[in-house]
Amino acid sequence: AAAGAPSAVRRFPEGFLLGAAAAAYQIEGAAHEDGRTDSIWDAFSRVPGAVINADNGDVACDHYHRYRDDVALMRELGLDTYRFSTSWARVHPDGGLVNPKGVDFYSRLVDELLEQGILPWLTLYHWDLPQALEEQGGWANRDTAFRFRDYALTMHDALGDRVKVWTTLNEPWCSSFLSYTGGAHAPGRQDVDAGLRAAHHLMLGHGLAVQALRERDASLELGITLNLTVAKPVDPSHPGDLDAARRIDGQFNRVFLDPIFRGHYAGDLLADVGHLGLRDAVRPGDLEIISAPIDALGVNYYHGEYVSDRPAAQPLEGQAPTDRPTRSPFPAADGVHFHSQGLPRTVMGWEVQPDGLRELLGRVHREYTGPAGVRLFVTENGAAYDDEVAEDGAVHDVERTDFLLAHLDSILDAIEEGTPVHGYFYWSILDNFEWAWGYDKRFGIVRVDYDTQERTIKDSGLAYQRVIRDRGLPAESAR
Ligand code: NOJ
Repeated sequence: AAAGAPSAVRRFPEGFLLGAAAAAYQIEGAAHEDGRTDSIWDAFSRVPGAVINADNGDVACDHYHRYRDDVALMRELGLDTYRFSTSWARVHPDGGLVNPKGVDFYSRLVDELLEQGILPWLTLYHWDLPQALEEQGGWANRDTAFRFRDYALTMHDALGDRVKVWTTLNEPWCSSFLSYTGGAHAPGRQDVDAGLRAAHHLMLGHGLAVQALRERDASLELGITLNLTVAKPVDPSHPGDLDAARRIDGQFNRVFLDPIFRGHYAGDLLADVGHLGLRDAVRPGDLEIISAPIDALGVNYYHGEYVSDRPAAQPLEGQAPTDRPTRSPFPAADGVHFHSQGLPRTVMGWEVQPDGLRELLGRVHREYTGPAGVRLFVTENGAAYDDEVAEDGAVHDVERTDFLLAHLDSILDAIEEGTPVHGYFYWSILDNFEWAWGYDKRFGIVRVDYDTQERTIKDSGLAYQRVIRDRGLPAESAR
């Protein structure tokens, strides 16, 4: 379309939020400043072979010192909202008393966002448990759930007057199964039982925090972010494949959705994993706490799963960042095989499947959020590609732009189909520390040069800027 001509053809509903996300450990740096102590990710990064290139979050994007410039970039992009997390180890060093300097950073960040007209969307836990609490058993220890509630209240003391949207946890599946069962993420434990206890204690911490925050202020918008997937049987007429899909759905999606929305763990899940420690972890009254009503559910979606009880002729090569051995994160999925759907992939090896997002949102709305009257958001979606800086200094990341527009399109399909979706956050605003993949994988719509800390808006960022300006998507032909 000609410059200035109205090019949007598919508009987002009134009030739909368009934002971007990041998380404390992945961007802040300043890991040893102003009283911050180690989180499990600082400690894990020192384990030989845990993170590619022995990368860590010591400096990251230096956002701790550059947050004003970063917020200015968000403003330039036109973001309605910015989803960030606070670092527990900055706020309660060693899991102990409140550190005013740590709290002050988030207070300044929130002020800056508000001054620039950007809605602060706060996540309390994006994987960086204070190492001192890990040394007392971490999330496998029930007490951590109560410590999490205390930390939530500290943050509310500091920011409750200005922050209205509170997310307890980001992707508890990763903080439990990937971290305590599979060992690919901090703290790197490989103990099926600990992973299940961690999952339940994370849920308990979520519920305790929701109750405590609600009691403080009934007007807060409270929620949680889950990474969910669509698990499809390779051959829907083969019972073994159907059972594989049921297991993965149970151990990925329903293990969190059911306790939050229905106040129970599903019978089939308990039959699969109950003997492994989940039943032992659940005490009378826990499920009432966990199912405390919420206002918003955030869904993080990257790709679907295509599963079978039979090995694939051409298996979906599992990619690992390093040769440090890890286990399957699923507590009870022996004999489940992940197949390729033959789709294009990002450099994470993840197959690009935008329509899965429509399908996932529809299912979550029908079975969980709709009946509960809970607002549904996509709190993460994004892609890593091997970006290059062109001679003109720009980053012509055509694949990421296509990825972004295709997933936004899929959300509009969902809305058209009758699934109310209230917002979208691209992951991530900046290239950043991609956990065990270190700085090797870039998800940003803004490039970070890690030598100079220079930021460059990529073409995908410019495309997103236009979407936000137009409140809609360009016609296919105009992309
Ligand atoms: C999920 C996580 O929340 C985020 O921290 C991570 O970087 C992205 N997905 C990409 O893997």
